[in-house]
Amino acid sequence: MLVRLIYASRVQPDVGPGDIDQILQVSQANNARDGITGALCYTGSVFLQCLEGGRDQVNAAYHRIVADARHSDPLLLGLREIAQRDFTEWGMGYVGYTAENRALFLKYCPRPEFDPYTMSGASVEALFQALIGVARWKSAR
Ligand SMILES: Cc1cc2nc3c(=O)[nH]c(=O)nc-3n(C[C@H](O)[C@H](O)[C@H](O)COP(=O)(O)O)c2cc1C
Repeated sequence: MLVRLIYASRVQPDVGPGDIDQILQVSQANNARDGITGALCYTGSVFLQCLEGGRDQVNAAYHRIVADARHSDPLLLGLREIAQRDFTEWGMGYVGYTAENRALFLKYCPRPEFDPYTMSGASVEALFQALIGVARWKSAR
């Protein structure tokens, strides 16, 4: 059975671009092994991540991820069964919060700044739908 899980978390203050590269490299490797796909959004202060895959695999990954000291305050925004994946091309795609895509992020937010903690499950799902064509692999520097 396939599920999609979406959560938000707060980035620890000492986390920088090198950490993001490391997280994405480990995620690509582990998620390919576990049949998980998805995308990670990083704004500098919050993460928003979508994980798709088998229920047991997504559950195990989520438990591993929320125990990671590089972020805190995980908020589960959505967990549901799905008929098919959205992020078929990405073991873990990356979407930065840039001047170019700011309007896209804000389209689904109730406030003038992007804050996933204020968003409904339906809105975060709609945001990830819109980000399917935007996700990229962030290469290690
Ligand atoms: C915001 C964030 C997202 C992460 N996403 C994933 C992920 O999708 N898959 C994964 O295996 N690890 C992810 N991690 C890393 C895990 O917390 C953990 O470090 C890693 O799974 C351990 O893998 P290892 O046992 O192979 O070293 C993420 C960490 C953070 C902080």
